Amino acid sequence: MNKSLYTKLVLIMVALIVSLMAVVGAFLMNEIRSFYLDDFYQKMQTVFDYQTLADGLYSAANGADAPEEMAKVLKAYSGQLGIDSGSRNYYILSGDTGAVMTGSGSETGTLAKTTNIMTAIGGNAGYVSDHSSSYMDVALPIEGSAGRFIVYIKDNKSNVRGLSSKLFGIIGQALLIGLIISVLLSLLLAKAMVTPIQNLTKAAERVAAGDFSPNLTSNAQDEIGVLTRTFNGMALQLEKTLDDLKKSEAMRREFVANVSHELRTPITSIRGYAETLQDSRNMPKATEQEFLAVIVNESDRMTKIVQDLLMLSRFDAGSIEFAYERFSFEKSLHDVYNAMLLEAQKHSHNFTLELKTPIPDIVGDTARLEQVLINMVSNAIKYTRDGGSISMIAGRKDEVVWVSVRDNGIGIPKEDVSKVFDRFYRVDKARSRESGGTGLGLSIAKEIVTRHNGTIELTSRQGKGTVITMTLPVEGRKNEE
Ligand SMILES: Nc1ncnc2c1ncn2[C@@H]1O[C@H](COP(=O)(O)OP(=O)(O)OP(=O)(O)O)[C@@H](O)[C@H]1O
Ligand SMILES: [Mg+2]
Repeated sequence: MNKSLYTKLVLIMVALIVSLMAVVGAFLMNEIRSFYLDDFYQKMQTVFDYQTLADGLYSAANGADAPEEMAKVLKAYSGQLGIDSGSRNYYILSGDTGAVMTGSGSETGTLAKTTNIMTAIGGNAGYVSDHSSSYMDVALPIEGSAGRFIVYIKDNKSNVRGLSSKLFGIIGQALLIGLIISVLLSLLLAKAMVTPIQNLTKAAERVAAGDFSPNLTSNAQDEIGVLTRTFNGMALQLEKTLDDLKKSEAMRREFVANVSHELRTPITSIRGYAETLQDSRNMPKATEQEFLAVIVNESDRMTKIVQDLLMLSRFDAGSIEFAYERFSFEKSLHDVYNAMLLEAQKHSHNFTLELKTPIPDIVGDTARLEQVLINMVSNAIKYTRDGGSISMIAGRKDEVVWVSVRDNGIGIPKEDVSKVFDRFYRVDKARSRESGGTGLGLSIAKEIVTRHNGTIELTSRQGKGTVITMTLPVEGRKNEE
């Protein structure tokens, strides 16, 4: 259990209960006091307003033994006046000195001269109430032929005090029970809050240690539930990012390995042929020429690989500038067709160009798009057995021009189709190398076409043939500066 959270909760609960009780207690006490005070003065007013009582008192004040007679009259009304001989008593005082003549209470000699008594001695009714004093009283002057008297009712508030202290006790008990309940509740609450936080902490520790599996479950709609779900999402995202990183790191390694391999092969054969030429003095001229041709050929191959790699790394760095201009795509199609026709004829392919619609001028980098077209056609020529048929078909659809190169060549196995755009990927390494391929052509093509906001897609059936289609927006790349 988290101590600090628990302590905080307990403190808050205790403060809450204590302040609540204090407010309620103070309010109740005050209410009771004013209730008693109001009740007392109201009762007195009502009772003394009775004509019969007043008549009785006045006639008693006229007769002999006036104080006792007046006391009798009051006694008859003790019910209405609430006289209980305990907290509330009546007295008959001398109207001149305020001295007690008779009464129901015990304070006969010691009765204090209150403000109200002084008022009555002065000849007026003393009805003033005072919240803060320890008693409530009324003093009424009665003048008869037997003398001046004061009818005096005094309540020493012992009832109110008794009730208040009882209430105090009840509030104290409630406070105690409230405190116990609040401590228990805060314990439960702290546990309910701390447990998911502890789970989260553990999960975070596991994630920090590289274990992304902790799938915390929480259906709670509260903040902790949201936090838990967010945490799950984060762990998942982190795992994915790490996976991606690992994958791209693996791809980078593979790429470097491929590059080294591709470069080493021609170097090895160049060196082999060069050494042979160096060592053999009397080599026939024809063989010498043949060896030199291989060396030149391999150097060309290396040059091509290095150029391709350079271009790809420039694409990756984003440092390549495309020369966007409006040019005749139809002319480019014809140029590429004418450039590749000789190569196609060398392999006895039936090579055709067909334009389905008029081809508009488009915006793009002419040289690089022609490079893509050349790779599309040269692949078809390379990967089709001699005497095959290869066709370039092009057209326009809305704001897009498309061109397909279709062959009836060796095709590509299903599982390889998605990989042919990967760098260095060749379905049949030996065959491709034989024909001078490095597996970079389509990945470069993809970069170029993508940068033109176009698409390049390939469909193939092994042994039947391949169709590769490029589309380009007529207006070129939108948002181009
Ligand atoms: N028309 C096609 N028919 C059959 N296989 C194809 C065809 N076009 C591409 N491929 C397969 O896809 C691979 C990748 O093609 P890509 O053009 O990228 O490389 P390449 O032609 O081998 O080398 P490069 O183009 O760099 O000289 C090829 O090696 C080949 O296996
Ligand atoms: Mg190619």
